[in-house]
Amino acid sequence: MQGAQAAQKYVVCNADEGDSGTFADRLLMEGDPLTLLEGMTIAGLAVGATQGYIYLRSEYPNAARILQQAIVLCREAGYLGRNLRDSGRDFDIELRIGAGSYVCGEETALLESLEGKRGQVRAKPPLPALQGLFGQPTLIQNVLTFAAVPQIIAQGAAAYQALGVARSRGTLAIQLAGNVRCGGLIEVPFGLTLRQVLDTYAGGTASGRPMRAVQVGGPLGAYLPEAQWDTPLDYEAFAAIGAALGHGGIVVHDDSANLAELARYAMAFCAHESCGKCTPCRIGSTRGTEILERVLAGENVSANLALLRELCDVLTHGSLCAMGGMTPYPVLSALNHFPQDFNA
Ligand SMILES: Cc1cc2nc3c(=O)[nH]c(=O)nc-3n(C[C@H](O)[C@H](O)[C@H](O)COP(=O)(O)O)c2cc1C
Ligand code: SF4
Repeated sequence: MQGAQAAQKYVVCNADEGDSGTFADRLLMEGDPLTLLEGMTIAGLAVGATQGYIYLRSEYPNAARILQQAIVLCREAGYLGRNLRDSGRDFDIELRIGAGSYVCGEETALLESLEGKRGQVRAKPPLPALQGLFGQPTLIQNVLTFAAVPQIIAQGAAAYQALGVARSRGTLAIQLAGNVRCGGLIEVPFGLTLRQVLDTYAGGTASGRPMRAVQVGGPLGAYLPEAQWDTPLDYEAFAAIGAALGHGGIVVHDDSANLAELARYAMAFCAHESCGKCTPCRIGSTRGTEILERVLAGENVSANLALLRELCDVLTHGSLCAMGGMTPYPVLSALNHFPQDFNA
């Protein structure tokens, strides 16, 4: 992106934070908005962008108010706008509010929405770094990514590199939610196991019943049974068990959860949020919901489950983006690890 030739480049902060059980972006924006603005400004100066946008979900009115105040303060102090602190360089940031669509968190749908269009996913290539917002080179990253930049500059890359495991370096903002006694945000180096997080911080379930399934990584994340709770929380270890860390959201369910019902919900969520651009996701998610409704009603269960697996294969390999591509994660993990719920 730095080398891309263009008269105008953009920096975009993805503050849509749509994953279930996640709130790290919100806490950062409400508690330390200047770190985000600083990170975006450093990124803008590094890649040669003069305009930044924060795309914030509409459900965060406090964050919107606080960010807007912070932007005004920075402009007044010469940290945003023209000729930043007499450097001869320009960079400004505008706040834009989304309209409640999950798929608008996907980076290309977000750019469409930011352009004032319907939030539909774009095919890649071209990558946003070369042709992004209004067709111009665009750096688009999450809130926590930009907020890490000032720390890395202040302490040096080696200090950041020293934290974590394998290729997952630095820290992970874990958000513990769902049926737990003590939910909250925990920032730790990558590598703690899921069981260590649950045992150390959750304080058991809010219902007092045993934990049964834990969904990690938002609505497209896998349901993990206790046998997988010793997996370290890092990108590679999660990929190896067919799961994803996503934005670090952990949602706990107790032993009253019905995983077949949760699998149906995952398909219905995909049907509701699908941007409609590609057939496997647009139509497959509706057919998948119907199949799971038949399974829940006890109709031809084994034939319907075989059909469900075929459909998941099509979604995995035929979807244009991870919305359709990852919906099989919660569905198949529920089916593979909790088969008894599908035959009840
Ligand atoms: C359906 C879908 C929804 C997404 N929602 C979000 C979101 O709410 N926030 C976010 O930061 N990234 C979201 N992403 C990921 C973005 O496409 C993109 O990877 C991210 O902005 C890159 O930022 P990072 O590399 O700094 O994490 C979503 C992806 C998909 C496929
Ligand atoms: S997978 Fe779904 S959300 Fe993604 S492009 Fe296809 S229809 Fe749109």
